[in-house]
Amino acid sequence: MSTTGCEFGGNAVTKLCGVQYPVFLAGMAAISGPKLVAAVANAGGMGTIGGLRLPPLALRRWLRETRELTDKPFGVNLVPSFGGPEVFEAQFQVVLQEKPRMLSLFYAEHYPDMIGRAKDAGMLVMVQVGYVELARQAIAHGADIITAQGSESGGHLNRGTIGLLSLLPSLIAVAEGRPVLAAGGITNRDDVRTVMNMGAGGVLCGTAFVACEESNAHPLYRQKIVDASVDDTEYRTGYSFGWKYGTPHRVIPNRDKWNLLRFMGGGARTIDKPRMAQKLSLYAGQGVGKIDRVMSAEERMAELVKGLSDGEQVCARVEALSLRCA
Ligand SMILES: Cc1cc2nc3c(=O)[nH]c(=O)nc-3n(C[C@H](O)[C@H](O)[C@H](O)COP(=O)(O)O)c2cc1C
Repeated sequence: MSTTGCEFGGNAVTKLCGVQYPVFLAGMAAISGPKLVAAVANAGGMGTIGGLRLPPLALRRWLRETRELTDKPFGVNLVPSFGGPEVFEAQFQVVLQEKPRMLSLFYAEHYPDMIGRAKDAGMLVMVQVGYVELARQAIAHGADIITAQGSESGGHLNRGTIGLLSLLPSLIAVAEGRPVLAAGGITNRDDVRTVMNMGAGGVLCGTAFVACEESNAHPLYRQKIVDASVDDTEYRTGYSFGWKYGTPHRVIPNRDKWNLLRFMGGGARTIDKPRMAQKLSLYAGQGVGKIDRVMSAEERMAELVKGLSDGEQVCARVEALSLRCA
């Protein structure tokens, strides 16, 4: 379509990343492994490996396994403040050597020089934030893409007190033309259409992909997402697996009275004992109420992408109308 009228919102980010659609898989620790990342990439989106907690050797293995499963661009997510400077530097060295297309950073505020170092190595850098001041800092340090993490989001939240509807326009206003991705509760075409109409450069989804066949999530975890309603997630600031006490996170709380593990936020992988999924409070966002079955990542991508093409059709109609009126 013509780029003179209302430009299709995701153009900038798809060109930057070399992907077909501005739909990003969140780099979720343990959950976003090679199979899921490659499935999203092969369906035209931007897959992102969850690199948090991975020792350098395992991180390198996942990056290489993903490359064997797709020839499309993909990214890797790291959380610099998680394991301390040495752990992070060791992971970062692997990323610099393997050079995926994009480095996605979260809780990166104490390590701003990583942005410049990754860019010098030829990578794109995306930084996910939950409030404006943090976005300003990331932009000042050269971030190429900002993700607005609304308080609806699942997993850990960088403050996590501002809803996407208010956060997204505020970040677009300070992004100096950089694409801003919308994250938090996005699971279907209507969500995508809404945020793209608000000016998002694309979308980033976590929970919707946890409930996909290719994710590393335990089947009981996926089922809990399917069974949950929008009332069922909770914002917490207590303990979550390995994170500093008090780091905000959103979970489907476990309400089993005699189970002390219910106070802990966590994920549960296929390789874990079912007990983990049965006892922990499981990371998930408010979009759970719109997820009614487990599906393949390709199917989930097809659903999300429909929100983009509807947007394109609206643009085409508006353009045709204005030509007729001129
Ligand atoms: C199970 C799970 C694990 C997550 N792990 C990470 C992570 O390791 N690094 C990160 O930057 N964000 C992580 N997130 C947060 C996502 O990046 C993103 O903000 C969130 O998934 C968006 O909201 P949604 O889940 O409603 O789509 C995680 C989210 C979930 C649901």
